[in-house]
Amino acid sequence: MADSIPLPLKDRVAVVTGGSRGIGRAIALHLASLGANLVINYSSNPAQADLVASQINSASASRAITVRADISDPAQVRSLFDSAKSAFNSSPVHILVNSAGVLDSKHPTLANTALEDFDNIFNVNARGAFLCCREAANRIKRGGGGRIICLTTSLVADLRPGFAAYVGSKAAVESMVKILAKELKGTGITANCVAPGPIATDMFFAGMTEEMIKRVVNESPLGRLGETEDVARLVGFLATDAGEWVNGQIIRVNGGYV
Ligand SMILES: NC(=O)c1ccc[n+]([C@@H]2O[C@H](COP(=O)([O-])OP(=O)(O)OC[C@H]3O[C@@H](n4cnc5c(N)ncnc54)[C@H](OP(=O)(O)O)[C@@H]3O)[C@@H](O)[C@H]2O)c1
Repeated sequence: MADSIPLPLKDRVAVVTGGSRGIGRAIALHLASLGANLVINYSSNPAQADLVASQINSASASRAITVRADISDPAQVRSLFDSAKSAFNSSPVHILVNSAGVLDSKHPTLANTALEDFDNIFNVNARGAFLCCREAANRIKRGGGGRIICLTTSLVADLRPGFAAYVGSKAAVESMVKILAKELKGTGITANCVAPGPIATDMFFAGMTEEMIKRVVNESPLGRLGETEDVARLVGFLATDAGEWVNGQIIRVNGGYV
């Protein structure tokens, strides 16, 4: 019998924030299928996170744990990385995927954006990404295979009305990650943003009417919404050694929508 090809992420540890639902869930499942052990982070709903972990633990050689942590809180982000280390025999974390994020489903104009909503969006999307990137930059394994991947949005290139705070928060992340990639010179750690267009998740559907959804589908050159797996496959490539030469980039994945 021919030797089986080793899985590209075997024995690597990946932390996926917001891994309990939507795009983060698909990324966690995909990285596990590539051999990674997973830390699945969530903020409020343990049941969803437990489902993802049990799917991984029952169907693959990879192992998964769940960790509740609000990514906008520095102590909780630190303990998220601590949990990874203690769960997987003191292995360092190799891969951070920051998928946790929030969007105001009212899609308000800037003039109608409440300060609390602005603060909440920037707290989770910008401050949260900063805290996760900072922890990752200090703690991810040096010498090859280290990966930092932040989910942003193709809207940063599209600038549609109704998304000022959300897009502002993601634009901040895109700038920080490009600088971080340069600052990580010599570590072998790459840092990139993956910027999806509309993807069929709770976040996308919240506040959308049938008519609004149809309009988005009609605008898409491929005539459909993105699926979470469309994003997960790209993240999987970036996470493997084959993705090493992609560094300091914003990669838009939107079926030609933007
Ligand atoms: N869907 C799209 O069309 C789209 C397009 C472009 C970019 N994106 C970006 O892609 C990422 C994933 O979006 P999605 O559509 O998968 O969202 P989603 O379905 O709403 O899932 C959000 C995830 O983030 C977690 N989360 C929220 N706030 C958190 C916090 N403070 N700390 C830790 N976890 C937190 C949630 O956990 P709980 O359930 O436990 O709260 C959940 O797992 C986001 O960064 C989003 O901005 C999405």
